[in-house]
Amino acid sequence: MSLKNTWLFPIGYCDAAEPWQLGFQDAATPMMQGIIDLHHDIFFFLIIILIFVLWMLVRALWHFHHKRNPIPERIVHGTTIEIIWTIFPSIILMFIAIPSFASSYSMDEVVDPTITIKAIGHQRYWTHEYSDYNSSDEQSLTFDSYMIPEDDLELGQLRLLEVDNRVVVPAKTHLRMIITSADVLHSWAVPSLGVKCDAVPGRSNQTSIFIKREGVYYGQCSELCGTNHAFMPIVVEAVSLDDYVSWISNKLD
Ligand code: CUA
Repeated sequence: MSLKNTWLFPIGYCDAAEPWQLGFQDAATPMMQGIIDLHHDIFFFLIIILIFVLWMLVRALWHFHHKRNPIPERIVHGTTIEIIWTIFPSIILMFIAIPSFASSYSMDEVVDPTITIKAIGHQRYWTHEYSDYNSSDEQSLTFDSYMIPEDDLELGQLRLLEVDNRVVVPAKTHLRMIITSADVLHSWAVPSLGVKCDAVPGRSNQTSIFIKREGVYYGQCSELCGTNHAFMPIVVEAVSLDDYVSWISNKLD
């Protein structure tokens, strides 16, 4: 079971959605950290623009009220102001674009991965395939992750988020995710890992993950795929390399 944040006193990492949550879940990968930083970066400009525009609006409403300003001005053009309000926003956009490009290009980079995991979306469950290993009968390790129905939940398990077979991965290791679908569009998304990758039938998408800390990370299918779209969650469990090796050898024989 994962430790959860209480509103005022964080007692653990927030790796699953909480009721009334407004902010992000805690980052577990450098990618997610980059996304949060970019968000804060853009928010800085956003608040400045918000205050400035609000100030202009209130000022205009105040000064050009018909009682204070009975005879309207005839001016309809102002070259200087038009140049300013064109140039200035484009400079702001550049300041937003630089960190945005930096993070999106670094997310694209696939760092020589140690493990490759294939996630295949189905209506309505995920199949996870560890293609690097073969069991004694030459089969690669494959299992399905089904959501635990509400009636079968045990105390402490998260409703609509828990699955029967978790994706176990080692922490502090470069992973490659290959994401595809067997039927319709799905999306393999885990907020704490900063991953949201579409599962497209007949096509495989690739993304890389580097989880910095051990933990249990909850995610959900994030592409509307039909009536039970809400019932195909994803659970990634990051463990130490030793635990991972014993897990995988248990699974394989
Ligand atoms: Cu699968 Cu939404």
